[in-house]
Amino acid sequence: MTSGDGSLTEELDLFYEEVRRHNSSPLWLQERQTVKTVPFLWRYDDFRPLLMRATELVPVGRQAERRVLVFANPGLEGKQSATSTLLANLQIIMPGEVAPSHRHTASALRLIVEGSGAYTAVQGEKSYMDPGDFVTTPNWTWHDHGHEGQGPMVWLDGLDVPMVMTFEAQFQEQYSEDKQPITKANDASMRLFGAGTLRPTWIHHDSVHSPLINYKFAHVYDVLTTLAKETDGSPFDAITLEYTNPLTGGPALATIGCFAQLLKPGQHTKAHRHTGGTIYHVIEGKGYSVIAGKRFDWGRKDTFVVPSWAWHEHVAEVESVLFVYNDWPVLQPLGLFREEPYTERDGHQEVTETFVAGPA
Ligand SMILES: [Fe+2]
Ligand SMILES: [Fe+2]
Repeated sequence: MTSGDGSLTEELDLFYEEVRRHNSSPLWLQERQTVKTVPFLWRYDDFRPLLMRATELVPVGRQAERRVLVFANPGLEGKQSATSTLLANLQIIMPGEVAPSHRHTASALRLIVEGSGAYTAVQGEKSYMDPGDFVTTPNWTWHDHGHEGQGPMVWLDGLDVPMVMTFEAQFQEQYSEDKQPITKANDASMRLFGAGTLRPTWIHHDSVHSPLINYKFAHVYDVLTTLAKETDGSPFDAITLEYTNPLTGGPALATIGCFAQLLKPGQHTKAHRHTGGTIYHVIEGKGYSVIAGKRFDWGRKDTFVVPSWAWHEHVAEVESVLFVYNDWPVLQPLGLFREEPYTERDGHQEVTETFVAGPA
């Protein structure tokens, strides 16, 4: 029995201390999570000089397997990732360099930013990469990169590492040599599966990931611009195409939804919000997005983040093509996907602030 507020407080303190000593905590005292993805933008003009300096200071090899700068969302203290589930990094490779072969349970994608003459090899198949190409290295596939051309080659790396780490399912293995043996013709998967509607019947592909390793930008752009002559696409997402697994119609990577989005000159989409933190990379174009009331101006090769459940709309000043990726393939089957249109002000947010890009 307690006889007054003072002794009750004292008794509660003793009780909480006792609970803590049991490695437990009272749910009614827990504060709401404060670590949260914030809208953010990384300008390529700021990062290219840093990447070039890295090429002088850090050789690629067994010590630094990949020369990569990680986009660290300032809302996610200590997490070093673009969203709570996905990484967005810039990788640079110089002529003659080889990023050694390895494999890991995290799945990765590359979106080529600049340069040509470099290849990715995946499971014995080599594909040379050009700007705008979308390249997959699904989980537990051997992959290495080499550069046989001239000048720097840069790509955006997207990975599901934070997701895999949440599940404590991260494994990694080095290949015994820097380069894996090439056992297939270059781009063999493109000829086998690239037609999409025609399936090679003698091949048994038992992975949850797409068998294609390179979705060439020239083809994607051709499809986008052909459709743009006939439609504006969705009022919220304009003309957006998903990179699919041609064998299932599902996502190219089992954990990462990947899309190409075309905005026509002057097109202004209506605002909506949905779960799933999303990363946008500007392949071509110029414009701005309004994210949670803040204006983010973007241009070629910039990368920005729309957090889960943040209102967003896009405005293109010229024809713009965005590469988009998120964690929808994981959210959707678990019943965690939710979407809502912005119904006020004819579907457009009031801009209350403008984001200033650049170093802090
Ligand atoms: Fe890797
Ligand atoms: Fe959206």
